[in-house]
Amino acid sequence: MVRACVFDAYGTLFDVHSAAARHADAVGPAAEAVSKTWRTKQLEYTWVRSLMHRHVDFWACTVDALDFALSANGLAKRPDLAQLLLGAYRALSPFPEVRGVLEALKARGVAIAILSNGTPEMLRAAVESAGLADLEMPLFSVEPLGIYKPDAKVYRLVTDHYDVAPEEISFQSSNAWDIAGGRAFGYRAVWINRTEQPDEYGLRGEVPELSSLEGLAEAL
Ligand code: LAC
Repeated sequence: MVRACVFDAYGTLFDVHSAAARHADAVGPAAEAVSKTWRTKQLEYTWVRSLMHRHVDFWACTVDALDFALSANGLAKRPDLAQLLLGAYRALSPFPEVRGVLEALKARGVAIAILSNGTPEMLRAAVESAGLADLEMPLFSVEPLGIYKPDAKVYRLVTDHYDVAPEEISFQSSNAWDIAGGRAFGYRAVWINRTEQPDEYGLRGEVPELSSLEGLAEAL
């Protein structure tokens, strides 16, 4: 039985590419490339820092990754862009179905929560700007642990909080590596494969796969 539905934040509830999309005119033709590299480097920095045991918070990883992405696209000398894009990152657009799906789960009596690399402050800002604050979801951040997903300690935050077994949690993420991490810990999981990515970590056929959060309640 699923006792709580736990959601990854960035890429799953909030569209990480909405920041660059919002400022596409200012960034210019490289906007999409900047956004992709920004996200890839942001995640790389979390993994490398975890393995080195040299933690800096997710906001610092986000700032460093954007620096790299702008430089790699010939935009190093545009601090105005960094300011615009970082401002937008604090107010990312939620995917359109998010609110309805979360409300429906809550109405069924399923506990809902967020488990994310983001700092508590970033997560609060994201939830507020997305108009989801009234849902009063607990926001579980890696920050007190000083290590990132997919370290098992991160996934344990949730089972410790609810005092449940891992298989009583359904974890939703658009990131295949995060689904693999959650499954390795023992969570049930639903892969929200928003961008039709090919299979990774042998997930296909092993976990339910949806193209958005729509239909989640039926997949649990
Ligand atoms: C998060 C990243 C992985 O929200 O998207 O934890």
